[in-house]
Amino acid sequence: MVFDKKKHQAIIDQVEDYIAEHKDTVKQHHWREHYHYQAPVGWINDPHGLIQYQGKYHLFYQHHPFSGKWGTMHWGHAVSEDLIHWETLPEALAPSEEYDGWDGGGIFTGSAVNNDGVMTLFYTGCAQARQVQCMATSTDGINFEKYDGNPILSDPPEGINLHDFRDPKVWKHEGSWYMVTGVTDGVSDLINASNYETNGFGKVCLHKSDNLTDWEFVGYCVESMGELGTMLECPNIFKLGDKHVLMYSPMGMQQRQVVYLVGDLDYRTGKFHWSTMGSLDWGFDYYAPQVFDDENGRTLIQAWIGSWPFMPWCDGTYDTSELGWYGSITLAREVSLCHDGKLKFTPVQEVEKLRHSPKRHTELELNDGEKFAFEAGDNVHCEIIADIDLAASDCDSVVFEIRSKGEQKTLIELDLKKGELAFDRTQSGSRSALRRTCPLECASKDRANIRIFMDSISVEVFTDGGRTVMTNNIFSDEDSAGLYVYAKNGNVRIETLKTFGMKSVAE
Ligand code: FRU
Repeated sequence: MVFDKKKHQAIIDQVEDYIAEHKDTVKQHHWREHYHYQAPVGWINDPHGLIQYQGKYHLFYQHHPFSGKWGTMHWGHAVSEDLIHWETLPEALAPSEEYDGWDGGGIFTGSAVNNDGVMTLFYTGCAQARQVQCMATSTDGINFEKYDGNPILSDPPEGINLHDFRDPKVWKHEGSWYMVTGVTDGVSDLINASNYETNGFGKVCLHKSDNLTDWEFVGYCVESMGELGTMLECPNIFKLGDKHVLMYSPMGMQQRQVVYLVGDLDYRTGKFHWSTMGSLDWGFDYYAPQVFDDENGRTLIQAWIGSWPFMPWCDGTYDTSELGWYGSITLAREVSLCHDGKLKFTPVQEVEKLRHSPKRHTELELNDGEKFAFEAGDNVHCEIIADIDLAASDCDSVVFEIRSKGEQKTLIELDLKKGELAFDRTQSGSRSALRRTCPLECASKDRANIRIFMDSISVEVFTDGGRTVMTNNIFSDEDSAGLYVYAKNGNVRIETLKTFGMKSVAE
């Protein structure tokens, strides 16, 4: 399909006009984040196309500019020199074909590579009755041209449901290009688009190419009868040390929302032999992470802070939809492999640039139920770091109470007795008033550490040295700003409690 550059530009111009018209109104709300990236206007989900190109970090994301709800997808675009200060650029890709063309139904998630100096994007085009893989290029990192020969990959392997063939992640290995996509078995009808069936057997598919435009099927990395998910969205394969990691966002897996498997990839057969399974993050609002390697040799990961209506805790009405926007992007985290085959996640060091008003308490001894009130910047946009001496504590749990005022509060609890980390937003003021727990490793150890990043709505919690992470949104009143720590059923000794305010870098 020959690319109609003029038509594409005209749609991008419409998006830019809409953003210019609405961004000042959107900006004013107290729920707008201060240091997590958000599109100026509209709905966002998955970050993708993450790449460092000509020295700058590029972040693309699923964007529906025209409302605070999911709709026909575009690719929004922002750049940064330090992963902290983001500058929104013009929309990168818009659906510019007719509904029965290759991308008229939306431009879905994808990835970016640097092909001899040309920034090359891969995305899923939503055609009327199928999903196909497409390509676009840019030499300035701002203006993109869709490839005239799109789609570069239209047919999934035999037996795959044509509606579930998406999210191409491309990388180079020993001179060849490889692409993983998420797929599900099933039957489709190309004439009657709504007539298709899937049996929920989620798989990850591997293709290979020498030129980025002609792709051959290698094999399935993993195949499941639903136990790995009914659809394995946004798969990524990357190397850490001498191991490979396959991560993806499964539909239909209640306990895990973002899975990683650690093992070895056989490039010849495509098979991924794995021995360790983990969750990248246990929060309600962490989905579709993508990795990339930066020029400093770090493997970095960013994800969407938000969740889908099909998640059991989301009724499909989002707290900010009426305000014309929803969704943000996590802080960049560095991912590394621990000796036991598990992964750990560390916020990039650049986040320290945001800190101001440092405060420090040492050797805090709190008796059963004694609430210690503390300050962290404005108590809403802040970072909290605590080191707890469990050997010198005999409590059942340690609780951080945040965004507290009267009945409104959010509780982050290290439950040492049950061995759980709990995030309780039942009293936060959010529509989704739920509590989530996950295993806490340090419960059986002498020390515990916790690091909490709070922004206007997002809360990123790191514990167990970054091996246990939870990201959640809370929608509290602007003046709910009390911060406390206390112990339940016994005393606690907190070696150090450090806090910082966090500056706003919102555009
Ligand atoms: C994941 C996902 C992808 C898809 C995109 C659509 O959140 O469902 O599989 O490409 O979002 O916006």
